Amino acid sequence: MSNKIVSIRELKREFRMGAEVVRALKGVTFDVEPGEFVTIMGSSGSGKTTMLNILGCLDKPSDGKYLLDGVDVGSLSRNELAVLRNHKIGFVFQSYNLLARTSALENVELPLLYNSSISSKMRHERAVKALEAVKLAERLDHLPNQLSGGQQQRVAIARALVNEPVMILADEATGNLDTRTSYEIMALFQELNQQQGKTIVFVTHEPDIAAFSSRTITLKDGKVVKDNRNTQVRSAREMLAALPVAADY
Ligand SMILES: Nc1ncnc2c1ncn2[C@@H]1O[C@H](COP(=O)(O)OP(=O)(O)OP(=O)(O)O)[C@@H](O)[C@H]1O
Ligand SMILES: [Mg+2]
Repeated sequence: MSNKIVSIRELKREFRMGAEVVRALKGVTFDVEPGEFVTIMGSSGSGKTTMLNILGCLDKPSDGKYLLDGVDVGSLSRNELAVLRNHKIGFVFQSYNLLARTSALENVELPLLYNSSISSKMRHERAVKALEAVKLAERLDHLPNQLSGGQQQRVAIARALVNEPVMILADEATGNLDTRTSYEIMALFQELNQQQGKTIVFVTHEPDIAAFSSRTITLKDGKVVKDNRNTQVRSAREMLAALPVAADY
């Protein structure tokens, strides 16, 4: 059996738009090992989101093979895929995707509602623990509009963590945030990766954000054109400390 978290081979995704066919992924092959922090880069339309949606089992490839933690995703039914996604994947989006009239705590409890073996007491405890891990223990009852952008993204990260997934996927997770807040979020991702060994796949446009990861895969027109190990990984915590005004979280 494979000990890889992700193993994809010649992955293709085509979208049919009437008579036209858009080939978003044209045969992508790579592996991700447990504990890696990978960024996916590439210009707009290169296939990053399409790739991430397939990795997260939100979408299926038109062709090729995808093993997630040793499971052949192509052989699963829609229901089995939903169960696999809920157990193995945590998602973080650019626009946070929190429920508006729902507290931070309830937003984080949400993924656990699908798991009938978890009692409401346990659900509460695990959500509190996840919010503590992102340093939001003081904001449990706040609604999303009572939180800053960076705090909302930390709630979204806590929600991604609460199921103890094998992999966290993030699509432009710092895209709406200023430099300082982006570094704070990247420091959090680096800590999750380095201290808890979380495997992370992170889509970004920005080379200075990619410099916080240990490997960068570059897509162009639906193909991998570069796959580099970063020898000098930058510390987001150090970059934060070097910014003119001290961080206050
Ligand atoms: N559901 C869809 N139906 C039709 N075409 C699609 C669909 N999703 C994506 N595409 C096309 O596939 C290509 C890749 O899109 P994708 O969203 O993966 O790009 P991206 O690299 O994430 O871009 P961006 O940086 O702008 O977010 C684009 O040409 C896009 O128009
Ligand atoms: Mg995209």
